[in-house]
Amino acid sequence: MSASIISDWSIAEDAVDPRLVPQRRLYTGALMPAIGLGTFGSDHVSGAEVAEAVKGAAAVGYRHFDCAAVYGNEHLIGAALEEIMAGGIRREELWVTSKLWNDKHAEEDVIPAFMQSLRDLRLDYLDLYLIHWPFPNHHAPGVDVTSRDHNAKPYIHENYMKTWRQLELLVERGLVRHIGTSNMTIPKLELLLRDARIKPAVNEMELHPHFQQPKLFDFVRAHGIEPIGYSPIGSPARPERDRTPEDTVDIEDPVIVEIARRHNVHPAVVCIKWAVQRGQTPIPFSTKRRNYLANLQAVVSDPLTDDEMRAIAAIDKGCRLIKGQVFLWKENQDWRDLWDEDGVIVQ
Ligand SMILES: NC(=O)c1ccc[n+]([C@@H]2O[C@H](COP(=O)([O-])OP(=O)(O)OC[C@H]3O[C@@H](n4cnc5c(N)ncnc54)[C@H](OP(=O)(O)O)[C@@H]3O)[C@@H](O)[C@H]2O)c1
Repeated sequence: MSASIISDWSIAEDAVDPRLVPQRRLYTGALMPAIGLGTFGSDHVSGAEVAEAVKGAAAVGYRHFDCAAVYGNEHLIGAALEEIMAGGIRREELWVTSKLWNDKHAEEDVIPAFMQSLRDLRLDYLDLYLIHWPFPNHHAPGVDVTSRDHNAKPYIHENYMKTWRQLELLVERGLVRHIGTSNMTIPKLELLLRDARIKPAVNEMELHPHFQQPKLFDFVRAHGIEPIGYSPIGSPARPERDRTPEDTVDIEDPVIVEIARRHNVHPAVVCIKWAVQRGQTPIPFSTKRRNYLANLQAVVSDPLTDDEMRAIAAIDKGCRLIKGQVFLWKENQDWRDLWDEDGVIVQ
């Protein structure tokens, strides 16, 4: 970071003290804030707005930011982080994650892709780097649900391990503190845990009251891997390609609505309280100050009761929202093939 950056960024008067925010201790001993700000604009929020939200969120007490190369805004978020640090926040106080996009899985592409994220984010190390999806199949931003990569492949463990070895190299070179997975399944994680020299510190997975993934959640925790929960509010503004008629809406669930009424908060806030109390690390997205502040306040005040936690545990509908159709590798294939629902890796 250049010392000459002039920053008008400062901590807000109504900020939540980051020392009060719950932390997750990873198997390395490092602490990760148990809530982060998501930065995917869902193809309709501009990078500039997201970067502004990063600054605003840091001002109200967020220290954890979930980024990814494919979100197309890391260069803008980098400028925001630079201002935040010029405004007095030390690098060690921040937790910054990025992710390797699916078109960069080839051995020779991984480190250059990582270095691009690092440069864009204007940092000299990352706290966490994830393989975004376990498939090398990719799509351009903004595509619809029928879009397919013509070179798409199923999961090939040997190839995934080649990618993983490059992530391990990044740790060995001190460029990233932790590495992890995203959108994985139990059978794929079993193979990775068997073969990794450096095991994943986290698994980022879809988690919200209507999609609790109890088996995968228990599996990762039993292996000392922290679950980071994406789309924790049920992603009400997700792209069109991720919507189907059977999808349910967490924030309209009568159980969530009733608990929200009792606590005098928006139903979204109940989803965040539940997530942190259950033991996952939600990364809600918002560009509205009122909302991202409410989400952070949610985890330091007025916890849900045991009865409320039990009531939410009972509304799981197994409703996956981010189905991943665009990553399928065969004609007329069911999206469930991406998720190994029978406990076997689908080829
Ligand atoms: N690893 C992966 O493959 C993967 C996949 C999907 C997402 N992610 C990550 O997870 C993050 C979050 O997921 P998401 O963006 O899909 O969905 P989400 O966080 O479940 O939902 C975000 C939406 O909720 C609204 N919202 C947030 N807080 C609110 C509040 N307190 N009251 C009312 N509305 C509120 C936001 O609107 P406003 O902006 O109007 O507040 C926004 O439209 C992403 O940004 C990304 O970083 C990762």
